[in-house]
Amino acid sequence: MAVVEQIFPALTWRIRHIAMYPDHPYEFVKLANDFDGVHFGIYVDYELTGVVSLFTQGNVGQFRKLAVLPEAQNQGLGKQLMDYLIDFCKIQKLTKLWCNARVNAKEFYTKFGFYETDKTYSADGFDFVIMELEIKHKDTKNTKC
Ligand SMILES: CC(C)(COP(=O)(O)OP(=O)(O)OC[C@H]1O[C@@H](n2cnc3c(N)ncnc32)[C@H](O)[C@@H]1OP(=O)(O)O)[C@@H](O)C(=O)NCCC(=O)NCCS
Repeated sequence: MAVVEQIFPALTWRIRHIAMYPDHPYEFVKLANDFDGVHFGIYVDYELTGVVSLFTQGNVGQFRKLAVLPEAQNQGLGKQLMDYLIDFCKIQKLTKLWCNARVNAKEFYTKFGFYETDKTYSADGFDFVIMELEIKHKDTKNTKC
């Protein structure tokens, strides 16, 4: 069984390094504002296996460094992390969530309703496109028990 939990920022670094930038120095995956973010990890049999990091400004969230260990990819863990992240954003009443998506992962994000913008760039050997999700909120005003 896989379980998502909020985790301490530094726990993300090893997973980011192995899954995203194994050829870069370990320091490369540390973000200057990591300690301002909210970080989530997915545990499989109590082993941290995937991570994602959320940074908010007002009602808008940016998630960064979604990473699942290579041997655990394509088993639904990235989806479980994204579902949790989007639910968290709804609870926080964010209106928009965006990311700098690696172009080779953009279809992964479209499954969650993200759309591509026309903002693209290349960095660190990867092509990126900015993708955005409008977060829909249910109208709870008329909810009766
Ligand atoms: C991208 C990543 C986070 C996806 O996590 P994952 O656990 O492998 O994905 P899941 O098993 O939850 O896949 C969910 C769905 O997305 C699809 N999918 C997974 N990776 C995909 C990709 N790179 N491109 C397109 N679709 C993808 C799966 O086939 C699955 O489709 P289905 O629901 O129709 O069966 C993971 O592969 C990863 O860490 N990759 C390396 C780092 C990286 O690229 N991070 C993203 C940077 S923007």
